[in-house]
Amino acid sequence: MKILITAGPTREYLDDVRFLSNASSGRMGYAIAQSAIAAGHEVILVSGPVALPVPAGCEVISVEGTREMYDACLENFPACDGVIASAAVCDYGPCERFAGKRVKTGGPITIELVELPDIIAELGRRKAHRWSVGFALESQDAHQRAVEKLHKKNCDAIVLNRTTAIGAEDNSVELIDASATTVARWTGSKIDIADQLVEWITTHLAD
Ligand code: C5P
Repeated sequence: MKILITAGPTREYLDDVRFLSNASSGRMGYAIAQSAIAAGHEVILVSGPVALPVPAGCEVISVEGTREMYDACLENFPACDGVIASAAVCDYGPCERFAGKRVKTGGPITIELVELPDIIAELGRRKAHRWSVGFALESQDAHQRAVEKLHKKNCDAIVLNRTTAIGAEDNSVELIDASATTVARWTGSKIDIADQLVEWITTHLAD
């Protein structure tokens, strides 16, 4: 199979030096890319800024902003069999980016944010015969919220993890399929979880 994987955070610039982002390390997505390649699949990894080595044999498209990640995914998805969206995408970005460095005013400032496109939701609309797997990072009503995202984004399965996953080496996840059933629970290194996820996808979602 040829698999599109999104990984890492995105950055939304307020001016030329400051940005909004999150603490995603990209480890989960890079581990999935490595597992998929080891299992004999082709991978296109669309990655936000991370400090990780590129898995050998992997095509990487480096991006910064959510719109840039969106464009790269839309362009590459048609040539793929499916997508795994593990990126921690900024949902909002500043309405405008100031040229240069914004100066201090001595008082409070207000930054207006605009909602950015939902990448996996758009791929879900366009997927036709392809499959899509999303991630959900939840702290409250976790299962219910993950199922809502699964349906809203038209995913075939969603990996639910908790806020402790951010930046960590290990993870503990629940895999929920399209019928909203928890079909697996995996705890361990992100590499082990990635191996099991790739195997599950190969068995249950590939033609
Ligand atoms: O941020 P949220 O909890 O909605 O993320 C759930 C899933 O949607 C993840 O797979 C994430 O990569 C994806 N997502 C996306 N584009 C966004 C927001 C989230 O692809 N703008």
